Amino acid sequence: MIAIGSDHAGYPLKEDIKKYLEDSGIEYIDLGTNSEESCDYPVFADAVCKAVASGGCSLGILCCGTGIGMSMAANKHKGIRAAVCSDYFSAKYTRLHNDANVLCLGARVVGTGLAEELVGVFLTTDFEGGKHKRRIDMFE
Ligand code: RB5
Repeated sequence: MIAIGSDHAGYPLKEDIKKYLEDSGIEYIDLGTNSEESCDYPVFADAVCKAVASGGCSLGILCCGTGIGMSMAANKHKGIRAAVCSDYFSAKYTRLHNDANVLCLGARVVGTGLAEELVGVFLTTDFEGGKHKRRIDMFE
């Protein structure tokens, strides 16, 4: 189960990603927001991070205007490793090397097509472990 959330700026991209997840047969829970009415991104970062940190969801996706505010808020949560990505290589390697468990996307930065590629590789790439686990343990 994937947790997904956004603020108002990320809302249209969240809706597009939901369609992509449905078409891909990937189950998700949408933790809001539910419109383009102005709201505060930390509220939705909190909801998604709690769902992931509790183990209820394996991975999370957060969308805001840049992805940056969401990543800053998300990384305040214990056990959350959030990465804002706008290129395929980073979305892949943040799973392989950082065991990132939350992908943050900027709806004003990436288009829907690229966002779908980023989500696709993020959700299907496994952590390599080994020396990378040691490094994560150093900051966790
Ligand atoms: C909202 O205008 C915008 O500040 C927010 O979506 C996000 O980009 C913050 O980092």
